[in-house]
Amino acid sequence: MVEIKGPISGYFYPHKAILVELENLEKLSAALLTKSDVIQEFNERINFMKLFFTAHEDGEEVSLYPAAEGLRKGLGKSFEWDRHINEQNFQAVYAAIAEYKTSKNLQTAAVKIAQATAALRAYLAAHEVKEDEILLPLLDAELTPPEQGKVIGAAMSKFPPSSVEEVEKFLIKRLSQPERIGFLKVIKQGAPPETFKAIIGWVKQVVSPAEWNELTAKMPELK
Ligand SMILES: [Fe+2]
Ligand SMILES: [Fe+2]
Repeated sequence: MVEIKGPISGYFYPHKAILVELENLEKLSAALLTKSDVIQEFNERINFMKLFFTAHEDGEEVSLYPAAEGLRKGLGKSFEWDRHINEQNFQAVYAAIAEYKTSKNLQTAAVKIAQATAALRAYLAAHEVKEDEILLPLLDAELTPPEQGKVIGAAMSKFPPSSVEEVEKFLIKRLSQPERIGFLKVIKQGAPPETFKAIIGWVKQVVSPAEWNELTAKMPELK
């Protein structure tokens, strides 16, 4: 992995959370083959993933991809194009869920959900890793830290304010302890103090007491 030092490195963390949740969804879809009561949890989680994906991708489309396009003609567009496949794959998962809910043969319907989820994971995970490996290093190398900050700010505007708490909790839950520290340091640099304070409160709610103690020992400004 290419090392990135500027604010745009903050994008590693939502990408990591997306990869983790895609793995969770694939495992859950496999569990459906033997446990039909998992469908409700699967449904809720795929809905949230879609919501998050939409805001994340809308933000990249309005800000990161145009910035890349300005630096290397055609590059931003190649990332933007991936959305067609990702949207089709989400629709295939939804179609398989709808079929499952009315199907008389749950086993066959569950196999379709698992196949559609595996396809969604394969392409979307590759898209996010490609951004980590090609898009973010380019923006880091060619934009100044304040320019990167502006790119991030414009992208964040695509998240509805009412979704921020749920989104931050979703991310924190899926990150390792070192990743949580890295993520919180990036937020502290870029976010208004009151936003950072609110996020600290949410972190405390979703991590275990032992994890919280470890985080505050390594980052005293969380206290
Ligand atoms: Fe993207
Ligand atoms: Fe992304």
